Amino acid sequence: MFEKRHVLSMREFSREEIDAVLAMADTLEPYAYGGNCNSLTGKILALLFFEPSTRTRMSFETAMMRMGGKTLNLGPAEGSAIAKGESLADTIRVIGCYADALVIRHPKEGSAQLASEFSPVPVLNAGDGAGHHPTQTLLDLYTIRKESHLDELSITLLGDLKYGRTVHSLAYALALYGAEITLVSPPSLRMPDQIKADLEAKGTTVRETGDLNEVIEEIDVLYVTRIQRERFPDPREYQKVARSYKITTDLLKKVKDDLIIMHPLPRVDEIDPEVDGTKHAVYFRQSFYGVPVRMALLKMLIGGDDID
Ligand code: NCD
Repeated sequence: MFEKRHVLSMREFSREEIDAVLAMADTLEPYAYGGNCNSLTGKILALLFFEPSTRTRMSFETAMMRMGGKTLNLGPAEGSAIAKGESLADTIRVIGCYADALVIRHPKEGSAQLASEFSPVPVLNAGDGAGHHPTQTLLDLYTIRKESHLDELSITLLGDLKYGRTVHSLAYALALYGAEITLVSPPSLRMPDQIKADLEAKGTTVRETGDLNEVIEEIDVLYVTRIQRERFPDPREYQKVARSYKITTDLLKKVKDDLIIMHPLPRVDEIDPEVDGTKHAVYFRQSFYGVPVRMALLKMLIGGDDID
């Protein structure tokens, strides 16, 4: 179904396609802990990270290794021909001949789209500026399905909804599942109007408020994000909103018993570490789920039909 297809944003995914990835991730999850799975033996995944990354880069690497494949890392841009002035398009053309697929993270929105126009092999967008982060969304959905439920879901997206690419991608996917979405952010970090309009056009119920207390008692999932400091054109604007929200155990006194708290990580100060020990915190398991989900996606993009 996915053979040779690029993964640039969630907008190109149907619910059936997402469900197929999640089902494949279920099948592969035992191999994410170890074991013998050779679905990607002989395959090479190139990693091009022009922005910092821990989980995304390393879980892609782990996913390849767990399935017998290998990775090729561009490394820091200063150590590559980009430092000599080579264009992104040329870099992509060349690396696309060395690998079976490319993962790219870049500070500029639209860069993964551009890469896909020049790449002879599938391109996976691992974050393009404040744009999209579709593979994070697939692991977020997998987490919700495993730790809560995707049907009749009531979810709150909290934090930097303006610059946060994880919430942009997630919102589009949630619309496919008929979720009830509440957006909670400082006024200057609201979800872009275009995304809200797209969600509403799909018949999604979207509420917006500056006060988490208005919804905290009734929701199934609280998806917390950090303020994307690196995207602020003016550091003074960041200072105005820094530390403006924080999840504490006190706040959790009034939540549903089965509320789950998610976070794409890294966390800065928006979740008190005391919350980590509560049954609501699933963010560290969430980052593990990046492995089976990325295994599934890679297998569907560049692998064969067999599991072993
Ligand atoms: C996110 C990202 O890079 O957008 N991190 C991740 O991939 N898990 C979230 C963030 O950096 O805040």
